[in-house]
This record gives sequence, C-alpha cells and structure tokens, in this order.
Amino acid sequence: MILKKLMATFGGLALAASPALAQKFPDLAPTPPMGWNSWNHHGCNIDETLIRRTADAMVANGMRDAGYVYVNIDDCWQGERDRDGFIQADPVRFPSGMKALADYVHARGLKFGLYSDAGAKTCGGRPGSRGHEYQDALQYARWGVDYLKYDWCNTGAGPDQRNPREAYATMRDALYRAGRPVVFSICEWGDNKPWEWAQNVGHLWRTTGDITNCWSCQVSHGSWSSLGVLEILDKQVALRKAAGPGHWNDPDMMEVGNLPSLSENRSHFALWAMLAAPLIAGTDIVGMKPEIAKILTNPRIVAIDQDALGIQGFPWFKTPEVEIWARPLSGDRWAVAILNRTSTARSHAIDWKAEPLADDHSQRSANLGGRTMRIVDAWTGAVRGDTAAELKVTLAPRDTAIFILEPSS
Ligand code: GLA
Repeated sequence: MILKKLMATFGGLALAASPALAQKFPDLAPTPPMGWNSWNHHGCNIDETLIRRTADAMVANGMRDAGYVYVNIDDCWQGERDRDGFIQADPVRFPSGMKALADYVHARGLKFGLYSDAGAKTCGGRPGSRGHEYQDALQYARWGVDYLKYDWCNTGAGPDQRNPREAYATMRDALYRAGRPVVFSICEWGDNKPWEWAQNVGHLWRTTGDITNCWSCQVSHGSWSSLGVLEILDKQVALRKAAGPGHWNDPDMMEVGNLPSLSENRSHFALWAMLAAPLIAGTDIVGMKPEIAKILTNPRIVAIDQDALGIQGFPWFKTPEVEIWARPLSGDRWAVAILNRTSTARSHAIDWKAEPLADDHSQRSANLGGRTMRIVDAWTGAVRGDTAAELKVTLAPRDTAIFILEPSS
C-alpha cells in the first residue's frame, strides 16, 4: 500500500535507488510458462483482430484449459511514443489500444503478454525500451500486461555494448516497481550465458538463437543464424542444472504445427516436455489442424512438462540415430522419450535391467535393485507392460515415443 502511494506520487523514481527492492516477482512460474506467441508464424503481420481470434480459438480448442494461458504479442505492435514519452500501440493495427485488447484477453480467462527490447529499437525497428524502462513498465501495468519478452537487438557492439546484467536487471526492477506481476522472459539468445546469472532476474531465458521450422538445419541470415529443432535440442544438454521452479531454460517458442510432418511435430513437442521447456505455441492457432491441437493438448505430455519437481531431462542413451531422454518426475515416476533422429524407420529395445535408470544431478534412480515399474504410453495412455521385460519400440522417421514409468504397486 505504502509502495503504491509512493509510486503514485513519484512514478517509481523515488524508489529506484533502493536495492532492497531489487527482485523479480516471485511465484509466477513454479512450472514452465505456457501460452502462444505471434512471432514464429505471423512475424510482423499482426493486428488486434488476429489476437482476439487467437484468444477465442485457444478457449474453443481446449488450449486454455490444457494450461496455455499467455497470449503474447511479439515484435511490431508498437507505434510511436506520445509527447510525454509513453509508448503507444500502432494505431492502424491496434486501433482500440492495448488496454482494450488486454481486457478482451483477460475476459476469456487468459493472460496478456507483450514484447520489447533493451535497445533503442527492437529487432523489427520499432521503439525499444532503452532509457524508457520505468515509463514502459508503468504503461504495461496500466494496460494489464502479465508477461514481457525482452529482446537484445540494437544494444551496441564491442565496448559500446550494453551490459546485459545491468540492462535486464533495470527492466526487472522497473516491472517490480510498477507493481503488476509480470513474467519476465529474457531473450538475449544465450549470448551472455544467462543461465549463470539470471536466476533472480527473469523467469525464463532463451538459450539459443531463433528457432526455425525445420527438423535439422542452420540457416544463415548474415550476422546470425536460426536453428532447427535438433540443433536447439543438442544445445540444451549442458544447461540442465540451471533450470528449476521459477527459472527455466527457454529453447525458444515451439514450431509445433509449422513443421512439415506429423512425426516431426510430435517429436518437437515431446522433447520440449522432456526439457521442462516453456510451452509457447508458435503456430497459427485459428487455422490449426485438429491433429496439431491434439498434440499440443496431450494431457500426459503437458503434465510431464509441468511436473512439480522441475528437473530438466537428459540424454540417457545416445547413438547418431536414436536417443533416449530421461526425466525424473514427482511421485517417484520417470518420463522416458525415444527419439528417432533419422529419416528412416527404426526399431529400438530398452533392456531396463542392463543399465539402471539414474540421474546423478538429482540423485534419483528408477529401477535400481531390480524394482519393477509400470510403463504407460504418454501419447495414448495405454499401459505397455512393465520394466521386467524389454520395451521394444518401432519409430516412424523423425518420430518420438514417450512413456511414463510409475511404481507398479
Ligand atoms: C528476435 C527474437 C525473436 C523475435 C524477433 C522479433 O529475433 O529472438 O524471437 O522476437 O526478434 O523481431
């Protein structure tokens, strides 16, 4: 209350010097955030009609009830700053304004997210937040923003580069002082190893450059490259210890629905769940095919992603063709995913007795001492026997089988 009064009097400036208040909002991301973001499919081609239709579709197709609550507008929503320096929405694409749009989204039981950048301009050349952090945070709070993705374009180079820790901490503090709880998504592409310093700054941090809708590729755009699903997956392995409740590795917004084959879309989703990744859909929700909605809303795989322990999975077994990922879950359970990286069908058998399923990092083990676990197919919910026998799977090209192991008694 006192904080609010001071805020009203001094617009937050009086408090800016108090380090005791330097913190992110607690308890906003005990499990990885879930929602949708406009960028991967729509890029800058966005407007308020699209956002309203997307929110409606997320209610109608079951995504909201499956946990996808954030409706996040990425780059290119911005117009100019007004004469006092407050950012305004693009008046042509968002003529009703951001407050009205946030109200529309909130009325449907969803939350509302925006994008900005630590430079003077965003990656898309719109006004960034540099030098306007407190003013932007205040504006977002007035509009009812619940999530901010904060990008790193135009932050200078060499000795003139903005200090990332300072830049992200400044926006964190600005959001906190504006008083409205906001999930803070750090997007500096892993350039400055945020997993080493951002635990108390943001709720999630991008670990790589941008994802693109291919299975395995690296696409050069001159000074930067975008990456396929497998390239991003491989880069997560070394980072798993940094993830946990409230602070997640973000391997980027999903291309589920944007990849060419159903198997690729299934694999991408199953693997992001194994990674405890934020599940931010990046496809055209309004025109989405039912089989894609079915993947995104699979309750068992969403539950793997959202498991309360928040332990990121790891590759337990690896060949160039087939990989087995394992992830300890709450309730003494495990998730196990078998990925076919290749373009031909593969068979694989897991002999649970040959090698114990164990995780040094979390000090957990599954079938040590000959214990038998029941195996449930996470795609279908069907029981597939138990770990006393070998588990044999046949995998379509680029497909992933995913199972939950649970105590059998
Ligand atoms: C960067 C980010 C992307 C997207 C675009 C928008 O490339 O990494 O996720 O936000 O900017 O311009």
